[in-house]
Amino acid sequence: MSKVVVLEHPLIDHKMAIIRDVTTGTKAFRENVSEVGGLITYEITRDLETTPKLITTPMTETTAYTLEKGVVIVPILRAGLGMVDGIHNMIPSAKIGHIGLYRDEETLLPKTYYAKFPPGLAQSVVLLVDPMLATGASASKAIDILKANGAKDIRYVGLVGCPEGVKRLQKDHPEISIYLAAMDDHLNDKGYIVPGLGDCGDRLFGTK
Ligand code: URA
Repeated sequence: MSKVVVLEHPLIDHKMAIIRDVTTGTKAFRENVSEVGGLITYEITRDLETTPKLITTPMTETTAYTLEKGVVIVPILRAGLGMVDGIHNMIPSAKIGHIGLYRDEETLLPKTYYAKFPPGLAQSVVLLVDPMLATGASASKAIDILKANGAKDIRYVGLVGCPEGVKRLQKDHPEISIYLAAMDDHLNDKGYIVPGLGDCGDRLFGTK
Protein backbone atom coordinates (compact mmCIF):
# COMPACT_ATOMS: atom_id res chain seq x y z
CA MET A 1 0.00 0.00 0.00
CA SER A 2 1.29 3.48 -0.85
CA LYS A 3 2.81 5.71 1.74
CA VAL A 4 0.81 8.83 2.68
CA VAL A 5 2.96 11.57 4.18
CA VAL A 6 1.16 14.58 5.66
CA LEU A 7 3.84 17.13 6.36
CA GLU A 8 3.79 18.44 9.89
CA HIS A 9 5.75 21.64 10.17
CA PRO A 10 4.87 24.99 11.76
CA LEU A 11 5.89 26.95 8.63
CA ILE A 12 3.67 24.80 6.42
CA ASP A 13 0.77 25.10 8.87
CA HIS A 14 1.20 28.89 8.98
CA LYS A 15 1.23 29.20 5.20
CA MET A 16 -1.72 26.81 4.90
CA ALA A 17 -3.71 29.08 7.24
CA ILE A 18 -3.10 31.98 4.83
CA ILE A 19 -3.94 29.83 1.79
CA ARG A 20 -7.20 28.55 3.31
CA ASP A 21 -8.39 31.99 4.44
CA VAL A 22 -11.16 33.25 2.14
CA THR A 23 -9.92 36.86 2.58
CA THR A 24 -6.46 36.05 1.14
CA GLY A 25 -6.04 37.73 -2.25
CA THR A 26 -4.61 36.27 -5.45
CA LYS A 27 -1.04 37.53 -4.94
CA ALA A 28 -0.61 36.19 -1.39
CA PHE A 29 -2.44 32.99 -2.32
CA ARG A 30 -0.10 32.35 -5.26
CA GLU A 31 3.04 33.18 -3.24
CA ASN A 32 2.09 30.91 -0.36
CA VAL A 33 1.07 27.98 -2.59
CA SER A 34 4.45 28.21 -4.29
CA GLU A 35 6.29 28.47 -0.96
CA VAL A 36 4.52 25.42 0.46
CA GLY A 37 5.55 23.60 -2.73
CA GLY A 38 9.16 24.48 -1.88
CA LEU A 39 8.88 23.34 1.73
CA ILE A 40 7.23 20.04 0.80
CA THR A 41 10.07 19.35 -1.63
CA TYR A 42 12.39 18.82 1.31
CA GLU A 43 10.37 15.80 2.42
CA ILE A 44 9.57 14.36 -1.03
CA THR A 45 13.25 14.21 -1.90
CA ARG A 46 14.53 12.90 1.43
CA ASP A 47 15.30 9.42 0.03
CA LEU A 48 16.82 10.48 -3.31
CA GLU A 49 20.07 8.72 -4.05
CA THR A 50 23.28 10.72 -4.39
CA THR A 51 26.55 10.03 -6.19
CA PRO A 52 29.94 10.81 -4.68
CA LYS A 53 31.95 13.34 -6.66
CA LEU A 54 35.49 14.53 -6.08
CA ILE A 55 35.57 18.33 -6.00
CA THR A 56 38.10 20.95 -5.06
CA THR A 57 37.10 23.53 -2.48
CA PRO A 58 39.21 26.68 -2.01
CA MET A 59 40.97 24.68 0.76
CA THR A 60 41.39 21.11 -0.46
CA GLU A 61 39.97 18.20 -2.41
CA THR A 62 36.92 16.50 -0.91
CA THR A 63 34.12 14.13 -1.76
CA ALA A 64 30.75 15.85 -2.24
CA TYR A 65 27.39 14.31 -3.17
CA THR A 66 25.15 15.18 -6.09
CA LEU A 67 21.72 13.89 -7.11
CA GLU A 68 22.04 10.60 -9.00
CA LYS A 69 18.81 10.77 -11.00
CA GLY A 70 17.20 13.62 -12.88
CA VAL A 71 13.96 15.05 -11.49
CA VAL A 72 10.94 15.88 -13.65
CA ILE A 73 8.17 18.06 -12.24
CA VAL A 74 4.79 17.40 -13.90
CA PRO A 75 1.94 19.73 -12.92
CA ILE A 76 -1.62 18.84 -13.85
CA LEU A 77 -3.00 21.94 -15.59
CA ARG A 78 -3.90 24.36 -14.43
CA ALA A 79 -3.79 24.41 -10.60
CA GLY A 80 -0.62 22.30 -10.52
CA LEU A 81 1.27 25.24 -12.03
CA GLY A 82 0.90 27.10 -8.73
CA MET A 83 3.34 24.80 -6.92
CA VAL A 84 5.90 24.43 -9.73
CA ASP A 85 8.08 27.51 -9.06
CA GLY A 86 8.49 26.64 -5.39
CA ILE A 87 9.57 23.09 -6.20
CA HIS A 88 11.75 24.24 -9.10
CA ASN A 89 13.54 26.77 -6.86
CA MET A 90 14.61 23.83 -4.67
CA ILE A 91 15.64 21.63 -7.63
CA PRO A 92 16.77 24.05 -10.36
CA SER A 93 18.11 21.18 -12.49
CA ALA A 94 14.62 19.62 -12.73
CA LYS A 95 12.90 19.46 -16.11
CA ILE A 96 9.19 20.19 -16.41
CA GLY A 97 6.45 18.24 -18.20
CA HIS A 98 2.74 19.09 -18.36
CA ILE A 99 -0.51 17.15 -18.31
CA GLY A 100 -3.81 18.80 -19.29
CA LEU A 101 -7.07 17.04 -18.40
CA TYR A 102 -10.72 17.98 -18.75
CA ARG A 103 -13.85 16.24 -17.54
CA ASP A 104 -15.98 14.64 -20.26
CA GLU A 105 -19.49 15.88 -19.46
CA GLU A 106 -21.12 12.64 -20.67
CA THR A 107 -18.91 10.02 -19.05
CA LEU A 108 -17.66 12.32 -16.24
CA LEU A 109 -14.24 10.74 -16.79
CA PRO A 110 -11.02 12.77 -17.14
CA LYS A 111 -9.81 13.08 -20.74
CA THR A 112 -6.36 14.18 -21.84
CA TYR A 113 -6.05 17.33 -23.97
CA TYR A 114 -2.31 17.85 -23.49
CA ALA A 115 0.66 15.76 -22.41
CA LYS A 116 4.28 16.66 -23.04
CA PHE A 117 7.35 15.40 -21.19
CA PRO A 118 11.10 15.88 -21.35
CA PRO A 119 13.12 12.86 -22.52
CA GLY A 120 14.32 10.33 -19.96
CA LEU A 121 11.12 9.96 -17.94
CA ALA A 122 11.94 6.30 -17.26
CA GLN A 123 15.25 7.19 -15.60
CA SER A 124 13.90 10.18 -13.63
CA VAL A 125 12.16 10.81 -10.36
CA VAL A 126 8.78 12.22 -11.43
CA LEU A 127 6.94 14.62 -9.13
CA LEU A 128 3.29 14.74 -10.17
CA VAL A 129 1.88 18.00 -8.86
CA ASP A 130 -1.78 18.82 -8.24
CA PRO A 131 -2.71 20.89 -5.17
CA MET A 132 -6.08 19.25 -4.49
CA LEU A 133 -6.39 15.45 -4.16
CA ALA A 134 -10.19 15.48 -4.35
CA THR A 135 -11.86 12.51 -6.09
CA GLY A 136 -8.45 11.23 -7.16
CA ALA A 137 -9.73 10.69 -10.72
CA SER A 138 -7.40 13.25 -12.36
CA ALA A 139 -4.38 12.14 -10.36
CA SER A 140 -5.06 8.51 -11.21
CA LYS A 141 -5.45 9.30 -14.92
CA ALA A 142 -2.27 11.42 -14.87
CA ILE A 143 -0.35 8.51 -13.33
CA ASP A 144 -1.71 6.22 -16.08
CA ILE A 145 -0.31 8.68 -18.63
CA LEU A 146 3.06 8.94 -16.88
CA LYS A 147 3.36 5.16 -16.70
CA ALA A 148 2.42 4.82 -20.38
CA ASN A 149 5.29 7.24 -21.11
CA GLY A 150 7.77 5.10 -19.20
CA ALA A 151 7.85 6.76 -15.76
CA LYS A 152 8.71 4.33 -12.98
CA ASP A 153 9.47 6.43 -9.89
CA ILE A 154 6.39 8.66 -9.51
CA ARG A 155 5.52 10.66 -6.37
CA TYR A 156 2.27 12.58 -5.94
CA VAL A 157 2.65 16.06 -4.45
CA GLY A 158 -0.34 18.11 -3.30
CA LEU A 159 -1.49 20.67 -0.76
CA VAL A 160 -4.76 19.23 0.54
CA GLY A 161 -6.07 15.68 0.41
CA CYS A 162 -9.20 13.97 1.65
CA PRO A 163 -9.93 10.31 2.47
CA GLU A 164 -11.86 9.78 -0.80
CA GLY A 165 -8.94 10.89 -3.00
CA VAL A 166 -6.32 9.01 -1.04
CA LYS A 167 -8.41 5.83 -1.16
CA ARG A 168 -8.88 6.09 -4.92
CA LEU A 169 -5.20 6.66 -5.58
CA GLN A 170 -4.19 3.82 -3.27
CA LYS A 171 -6.60 1.50 -5.05
CA ASP A 172 -5.52 2.44 -8.59
CA HIS A 173 -1.79 2.94 -7.95
CA PRO A 174 -0.85 1.30 -4.66
CA GLU A 175 2.89 1.80 -5.15
CA ILE A 176 2.76 5.63 -5.49
CA SER A 177 3.75 7.69 -2.43
CA ILE A 178 1.45 10.62 -1.64
CA TYR A 179 2.85 13.82 -0.08
CA LEU A 180 0.40 16.42 1.27
CA ALA A 181 0.54 19.58 3.38
CA ALA A 182 -2.81 18.74 4.98
CA MET A 183 -5.37 15.96 5.14
CA ASP A 184 -8.94 17.28 5.30
CA ASP A 185 -12.25 15.87 6.40
CA HIS A 186 -14.28 14.99 3.32
CA LEU A 187 -15.40 15.76 -0.22
CA ASN A 188 -18.74 17.54 -0.61
CA ASP A 189 -21.39 16.63 -3.21
CA LYS A 190 -19.91 19.17 -5.66
CA GLY A 191 -16.46 17.57 -5.49
CA TYR A 192 -14.87 20.23 -3.25
CA ILE A 193 -12.68 19.32 -0.30
CA VAL A 194 -14.03 20.47 3.09
CA PRO A 195 -12.76 22.55 4.85
CA GLY A 196 -10.33 22.88 1.91
CA LEU A 197 -9.48 26.18 0.27
CA GLY A 198 -12.08 26.54 -2.47
CA ASP A 199 -11.23 26.33 -6.16
CA CYS A 200 -7.45 26.36 -6.25
CA GLY A 201 -7.17 27.26 -9.96
CA ASP A 202 -9.57 30.19 -9.62
CA ARG A 203 -7.79 31.50 -6.54
CA LEU A 204 -4.35 31.17 -8.18
CA PHE A 205 -5.30 32.88 -11.39
CA GLY A 206 -8.04 35.26 -10.20
CA THR A 207 -10.65 33.73 -12.49
CA LYS A 208 -13.54 34.14 -10.07
N1 URA B 1 -10.33 21.26 -6.87
C1 URA B 1 -10.22 22.43 -6.19
O1 URA B 1 -9.69 23.39 -6.72
N2 URA B 1 -10.72 22.49 -4.95
C2 URA B 1 -11.29 21.45 -4.34
O2 URA B 1 -11.71 21.57 -3.18
C3 URA B 1 -11.41 20.24 -5.05
C4 URA B 1 -10.92 20.17 -6.31
